[in-house]
Amino acid sequence: MQASPDAEKRNAAYAAVDHVKDGMVVGLGSGTTAAYAILALGERRKHENMQILGVPSSYQAFQLAIQNGVPITTLEENPIVDVNIDGADQIDPQLNLIKGMGAALVREKIVAASARHNIFIADQKKKVLVLGEGNQPVPLEVVPFGVALVRRRVQALGGIPMLRETKGKLGPVISDNGNVIMDAAFGAINDPEELELQLKKIPGVVETGLFLGLSDVVYLGTGTTVQKLEKNRL
Ligand code: A5P
Repeated sequence: MQASPDAEKRNAAYAAVDHVKDGMVVGLGSGTTAAYAILALGERRKHENMQILGVPSSYQAFQLAIQNGVPITTLEENPIVDVNIDGADQIDPQLNLIKGMGAALVREKIVAASARHNIFIADQKKKVLVLGEGNQPVPLEVVPFGVALVRRRVQALGGIPMLRETKGKLGPVISDNGNVIMDAAFGAINDPEELELQLKKIPGVVETGLFLGLSDVVYLGTGTTVQKLEKNRL
C-alpha cells in the first residue's frame, strides 16, 4: 500500500527516535522529515520523562525544539553528540547523501561530524542509484564575496551554478551563517569523493551538501513500513 510522503517521513522519524536513550545528547536535524523527529523526541520526553539535550542544526530546529519541549545545548557545552537524526535530499546505495535544500548544510555537517552515530531519515523518493540524478543539484554554502569566483569554478568543473533565490522576499537566500547558497547541478555524479575534493578547494566555498561516509543508518519510509539500511550491510 502506498502511504503519503508525509506518513513515510513520520514513520522513518519515529523509527530513528527509538535509538535515543535517557541521558543522550541528540543532534536535531533540519527540514520537514527531521521536524517529525523533534516532535517525537518531545513526546518521549513528556511521556517517559526522558532526560535529553538537543543540538539544533538550524534556527528552524532550534525553534521546533523549544516548541516541543526539547531542552537545547551547544557543541561548546557538549562537543560529542550521542546520536544525530537528520533528513536527506538524496541517498545512494553506499548511504552517501546530498543535503542542503533547506540551506542548513554547514551546521548539519558539523553536527553530523560531532556525532558518534548518524541516522538519516527520508521518504522513499529520496533513494537513488547515483547522487545527482534527476537534476538534483549539490547545494554549496558560499561567502557572498566569493560568488563570482565560485560560479566560474563550478562551470569549469562541468556544473551549472544557480544562486538560490528566496520565496516571499526578493534576493538570495541567506543562510543561518550569513552566507548565500549556490545550487550546482552536475548531473549524475559518478565520483562524489573527487567532486567533494574539487569543490572544497574553491576559495569562498564554506561547505558542500555532499555528505559522504557519514551515515550509519538510514530509515526510509516505504508504504506503511520502514526500511532500515545500514552501512556495510547492503
Ligand atoms: C536542510 O538543509 C536539508 O539538508 C534537509 O535535511 C533536507 O533538505 C531534507 O529536507 P526534507 O526532510 O524537508 O525533505
